[in-house]
Amino acid sequence: MNSPTSRRVPIVAGNWKMHYGPTEARDFAQSILDGLVAIPSVERVLCPPAISIAAVHAVTAGTGVWLGAQNMYFEEQGAFTGEISPLMLRGLCQYVILGHSERRHYFGETDALINRKTLAAFAHGPRPIVCVGERLEERDAGQTERVLTTQVRGSLTGLPIERLSELVVAYEPVWAIGTGRAASPQDAADAAALIRALLAEQYGAAAVVGVRIQYGGSVTAGNAGDFAALPDVDGALVGGASLKPDFIEIVRATARAKG
Ligand code: 13P
Repeated sequence: MNSPTSRRVPIVAGNWKMHYGPTEARDFAQSILDGLVAIPSVERVLCPPAISIAAVHAVTAGTGVWLGAQNMYFEEQGAFTGEISPLMLRGLCQYVILGHSERRHYFGETDALINRKTLAAFAHGPRPIVCVGERLEERDAGQTERVLTTQVRGSLTGLPIERLSELVVAYEPVWAIGTGRAASPQDAADAAALIRALLAEQYGAAAVVGVRIQYGGSVTAGNAGDFAALPDVDGALVGGASLKPDFIEIVRATARAKG
């Protein structure tokens, strides 16, 4: 299923994970900023660790390069030691990554929890980038479709239908993350089509036309264009390669493929 893509602005986000404290983060952001600013046809999002968001914001503010958080809690404030609320991100972050597989697997996040966070993002801003993806043993057992179906239905239920175009879903097969073994473009295309079809089941085809779907997992400057060339893939969620100037090349390859 190929959807009309004309309404969707490509989006490439760099998930820095647990790399770069405030000073390094600011310096690295500064070093890639001009390169990113020069590619305005793609939405460019930097996702530093929470403690570094303000330092990066100091250099990106007003440039059109957006910031994203890597996680947040769903409550507005209160006795939740170690957590960050959506209200605290407002004004700094346009996006928040939710349900990354590392959060699901190392920190026990469930679809129900991710759903509450996603609803909180819609209620308070920033826009959610919700991650889904199967593990290797699930793929090998032929369960990819079942896993994605459970994750999409569980984590993306009850969203405000008229605002669905604010949603970004990242298909990140766990076996492709940090392994140097990216999914094939066909795998990514199949998953993106399935995700959009599952959303259409819940919300109707018209409502989900504007939802953007990223591919993530060992994206490099060399393969980013292949993924971006897919009609149903609207950009990338990049880990390791977003810590290097290669990130600019990934954004450029995406712009070229979508151009
Ligand atoms: P890599 O690009 O390092 O494989 O990481 C992908 C990822 O997890 C982005 O969220």
